[in-house]
Amino acid sequence: MPRTLITSALPYINGIKHLGNLAGSQLPADVYARFKRARGDEVLLICATDEHGTPAELAAAAAGQDVRTYCDEQHALQKRVGDGFGLSWDWFGRSSNPPNHRLTQHFCEALEQNGLIEERVDRMIYSLDDGRFLPDRYVEGTCPHCAFPKARGDQCDNCGRLLDPMDLIDPYSAVSGSKNLEVRDTRHLYLLQSKLADRIRAWLDSKTDFPALTKSIGYKHLDEGLIDRGITRDLAWGVPVMKDGAPRPGFERKVFYVWFDAPIEYIGATVEWSEATGGNWERWWRTDKGADEVRYVEFMGKDNVAFHTVSFPATLLGSEEPWKSVDVLKSFNWLNWYGGKFSTSGKRGVFMDAALELLPADYWRWYLTANAPESADSPFTWEQFQNTVNSDLANVLGNFVNRILKFAETRFDGVVPAGGEPGELETKLFKDIAAGIEALTASLEGMTFRKAAQDLRDLWVTGNGYLTEAAPWTVIKTDPERAAMIVRTGLNLASLFGRLSAPFIPFTAAHIAGAFEGDDGAGWPQADGAAELSRLKLGCKVTAPPVLFAKIEDAQVAEWTARFGGGEDASA
Ligand code: MF3
Ligand code: ZN
Repeated sequence: MPRTLITSALPYINGIKHLGNLAGSQLPADVYARFKRARGDEVLLICATDEHGTPAELAAAAAGQDVRTYCDEQHALQKRVGDGFGLSWDWFGRSSNPPNHRLTQHFCEALEQNGLIEERVDRMIYSLDDGRFLPDRYVEGTCPHCAFPKARGDQCDNCGRLLDPMDLIDPYSAVSGSKNLEVRDTRHLYLLQSKLADRIRAWLDSKTDFPALTKSIGYKHLDEGLIDRGITRDLAWGVPVMKDGAPRPGFERKVFYVWFDAPIEYIGATVEWSEATGGNWERWWRTDKGADEVRYVEFMGKDNVAFHTVSFPATLLGSEEPWKSVDVLKSFNWLNWYGGKFSTSGKRGVFMDAALELLPADYWRWYLTANAPESADSPFTWEQFQNTVNSDLANVLGNFVNRILKFAETRFDGVVPAGGEPGELETKLFKDIAAGIEALTASLEGMTFRKAAQDLRDLWVTGNGYLTEAAPWTVIKTDPERAAMIVRTGLNLASLFGRLSAPFIPFTAAHIAGAFEGDDGAGWPQADGAAELSRLKLGCKVTAPPVLFAKIEDAQVAEWTARFGGGEDASA
């Protein structure tokens, strides 16, 4: 049985994520995982909260909580909304848990043994007013590359470049706003990435299944030249820096840099899963223990790609140990919010918890997949959301399922009727459905999600067209045998749509499956129209489900626009 390991970028602990985060990593990872499970693969879908570093400390301070309490609460919240969206994680871990601490310390030790770690004395920004060093996001200022005035010390949100806090022009403290800063000496561990540049490039060259967006970002960073990176920070919250089982002398008050330990949590979370379930994590991560047979797929937004094509591979390759590395790195552009970006810190856009209060998960899942920011940034607008939901889900899929099941209930005693033989219309339908299944399967295998959603919608439209043309409500008056054939085919279409839709809209798919006695909705259909449309047992009981999708009314759009902003001048 093929084995597929799937991870999505680990969401930061600093608050519930917005729909942009969901659309660009967690949701497509889930759609893909559900598809692969349906195809019969053994799948492990791993995610976790990314809990260390300055974002966690800053958010906890802003919430007036100690950082551990803050993380405990936020982890539970993110788990709850993820479950609410149907994210089918096999494990949702925490980077602050012991396995990640052990692994992070282990990797540093292995890298050091291989001559890839060096202690250096750095000059770092110290805030006199805050009485502390200001690593990474603790300092903000103007980007030296694009002049964006609110660049963070670790990365510019405007041009995406990775930064060193010392590069910022006119820096100020993110805690207090103070500009009363000076540069002081502090000792740190450096990972000598420059020594690994050739190996990382060869590694990237070998990844022929990486999509173009991923490759171009990876090569851009390699071409700019890899610099040695500080992997420790003057912070209290994080993975302690150890040596020979004791705190490393001179590093007692330092921890590893969050971007060093976070990707290691992909492995750490798998260890957590092992410990909780009796699974075998090494089978998924150690190529000497069977992981060479695993296909590993990562999902993330484009801002995370450099860390996964350069930094994390540096950790894995530099360890000289047989770790599994990613086979396909699927990356996404941005989902935009009215001309700007969704923003956690700016509270711009719709966040996952609020979305679920407005409408059930499947409405969002469908829209965000059909409108995935795949080949370019994509806009979110309320009108487009309304149109997509109303035309695809309510008018096409929902209407189809409802129409055929109601008809079967009223005219065929609520069972799958026997009788009749396929005619010309059915022969054509079988062909179209087979081609549609083949296209959808290929799109999902290729992780082209917009195309996949379009393929699925085309199948729904084909079904609707068939039913309209075959018109069983008219035929029944003159030819009951023929009407039975059409209704049987229609019911099979509805059941087929449930299975094909399950990766995208799993809650609805379960409702559809529930309409057919003895149908568990599991498995992935073959590209064989005749077979797939005669699956239901003759005489099996059918029950129309409650209306699957309510149309979104203009009044709702007006209300949400007022409540969430949006609709304001895009350039404002
Ligand atoms: N927390 C990061 C973000 O939200 C992503 C971390 S991915 C990891 O941008 F693999 F490094 F954890
Ligand atoms: Zn910039």
